[in-house]
Amino acid sequence: MSKVTVIGAGNVGATVANVLAHRDIVKEIVLLDIAGDLARGKALDTWQQAPIDYYSTHVKGTDDYKETAGSDIVVITAGVPRKPGMSRDDLISTNAKIVNSVTKSILEHSRNPIIIVVSNPLDVMTYAAYKVSGLDRSRVFGMAGILDTARYRAFLAEALQVSPKDIQALLLGGHGDTMVPLPRYTTVAGIPVTDMIGSAELDAIVERTKVGGGELVKLMGTSAWYAPGAAAAQMVEAIVKDENRIFPCCVNLSGEYGMKDIFLGIPVKLGKNGISEFIELKLNTDEMALLNDSAGHVKAVMEVYDGMGL
Ligand code: NAI
Ligand code: 2OP
Repeated sequence: MSKVTVIGAGNVGATVANVLAHRDIVKEIVLLDIAGDLARGKALDTWQQAPIDYYSTHVKGTDDYKETAGSDIVVITAGVPRKPGMSRDDLISTNAKIVNSVTKSILEHSRNPIIIVVSNPLDVMTYAAYKVSGLDRSRVFGMAGILDTARYRAFLAEALQVSPKDIQALLLGGHGDTMVPLPRYTTVAGIPVTDMIGSAELDAIVERTKVGGGELVKLMGTSAWYAPGAAAAQMVEAIVKDENRIFPCCVNLSGEYGMKDIFLGIPVKLGKNGISEFIELKLNTDEMALLNDSAGHVKAVMEVYDGMGL
């Protein structure tokens, strides 16, 4: 049974810990935050839910990295979320320093963990954690695609009046407004989605998905946490249970899709050693153009990070 650390006990981090505890698949979850007793409080609250919801996973809160020693998986959610009117990229100056220092501290106490990055701007923060950690690319990747695909699937389920369980879909690219939902890889219980919905309605759903994070920021004044937390917990579950699940994750491309030295969302196979396969789809010209556009956007923000000289 594994030890999982979640860095950042804010909205997303606390949700990851809570959802994961409910899965009852790991021995211990350590929740760490620099904000006073916040992590201790949220961890204690989740632990006190155990007798009610019936799980054994112990949840401990701390502000001391010594407690994270020997973690198998670390989820980084530390950093500021966006406020209305901000893009994810606006967060880079604050969050790059946080993700850099968090990654260094993790590695001082855990030798070869799998790191799942959640902090925004996601693709570039994953790049930061990869660079600072020096770990293999199979062990450092970001959560965005599961969330973005879930938004797309939820919108489709509502439009088609079907269960979200029956929508299978895929989405590529950066975690920003240039993300690339793929109708050609979307089915409803195996039926091509284009047989079930008109192109104008489908286009509107694709566009709503691209700005799905912003829709929630406008509604709540801060970014989402239930679906993001559940998405990160699902990645942890796939690793802990060695499930070989295929999820879109933000990864370091090393020749796939004709790209190198860039972090973008693509489908990967996830199991006990992290990513065991980077899956290359046969994209058509239009899809490839959208992916290239998304890559150009992420690359520009990676260059901002490099220019910070951290
Ligand atoms: P939040 O403000 O509720 O929580 C962030 C927590 O990080 C705070 O408790 C803060 O004290 C902590 N923190 C800050 N610096 C730290 C450090 N050096 N070490 C440890 N903890 C530190 O924010 P929320 O809503 O939980 O979002 C967290 C991050 O996740 C944001 O950057 C947000 O944009 C991102 N996010 C990413 C998503 C994705 O799909 N990848 C989805 C949702 C949020
Ligand atoms: C989201 O998409 C803010 O990245 C976060 O909800």
